[in-house]
Amino acid sequence: MASEVLIRDLQIQDKDREGIRKALLNAFTLTRYHASPEFARIGEYIARGADGLFENPERMESCMVAQVNSEVVGYEAIGKTEVLPGVNTVVYGGFAVQPQWQNKGIGKRLIQEATKRILKKGFVFGEVTTDACAWPAIRVYESVGLRITRQSLTYTVRPSQATLGDAKPLRRAEDDADAAAIQKIDGKSFAPCENYIHKEFPVADYNAHMMSKLSSENHLAGIKTRLAGYLLIEKDGETVGYLNTSSPDPMAEFFGTRLAKTSPGVPQGLSGKTLAAATRTLADEGAEVIDITVDYLENDKIRKAAAEVGFEFIYSAVDLTGKLCANTA
Ligand SMILES: CC(C)(COP(=O)(O)OP(=O)(O)OC[C@H]1O[C@@H](n2cnc3c(N)ncnc32)[C@H](O)[C@@H]1OP(=O)(O)O)[C@@H](O)C(=O)NCCC(=O)NCCS
Repeated sequence: MASEVLIRDLQIQDKDREGIRKALLNAFTLTRYHASPEFARIGEYIARGADGLFENPERMESCMVAQVNSEVVGYEAIGKTEVLPGVNTVVYGGFAVQPQWQNKGIGKRLIQEATKRILKKGFVFGEVTTDACAWPAIRVYESVGLRITRQSLTYTVRPSQATLGDAKPLRRAEDDADAAAIQKIDGKSFAPCENYIHKEFPVADYNAHMMSKLSSENHLAGIKTRLAGYLLIEKDGETVGYLNTSSPDPMAEFFGTRLAKTSPGVPQGLSGKTLAAATRTLADEGAEVIDITVDYLENDKIRKAAAEVGFEFIYSAVDLTGKLCANTA
């Protein structure tokens, strides 16, 4: 079977576009959106992602398709990212094989051939985030040297009066003083964690890099551009934490649903009361569905708070990172 498969560069032509669209539409059956009738248009949304590839192929370091006879049955796309200065790093992006062609070694060949090419270009390190249930994908990434280095959990709620009680809304960040307070919290909440951060790098280097990044002008400027996205947690007039709602979910836009994403930067953990207040703020603004994503290692702190407000666990993702190898096993 594998010998009939041709792995080649993406070409800007309808045949490739159609094959990639099909792979995307049919392969991603594990996503939570698939399980929900109101997200029945998920395929359409995902297929749009394929169009993005054709619009900006030069942004990719590698984009290859798998072809069987004249049919495109799978693809992968790899871009560039930054982990540490001077460490040439790629991020594995889109990757899918049409279901009837899965489990025949095609996905592994795609990634392995692309990785060989990436190594020749001088990249040494790779990272990717995927669904924790997508173990075929995880197996493939492991075959080129990546290892699971982190897990995150997402909880979701449809806010109701019953769960929100008399929670008061939180204040949104609005000025330079708020931005400075957020930056300070980022510095405090960065807990060097040897368990899961890029094991191949000297931890001291990684930490030093992160700390200088967090205290840099660029980081502050980034906060300022998304200022209103931060919900502030205040105690006795002082900002002690925040919830970041500044990454509007593109899916929400597509579906016309107000789906707010929150990710906490709360060093001391999140209480049910604070989570209810954040939920109240977003619900008052019209959010119908609210998600919160937390690091697995922080999960114990949030599980209780999430349950108090009626959040339910819905999705788990894993990050894989590591030194790339041209494994052909
Ligand atoms: C991830 C994906 C592209 C892999 O493609 P594939 O051609 O099926 O992969 P392979 O045939 O090379 O199999 C990879 C591994 O998974 C295993 N596997 C794949 N499908 C399997 C199945 N249905 N049953 C049992 N094992 C399976 C293979 O045995 C192999 O394991 P090994 O390393 O122990 O040999 C494909 O599963 C897919 O499209 N999934 C949905 C989209 C997705 O999750 N993308 C990743 C986003 S980051």
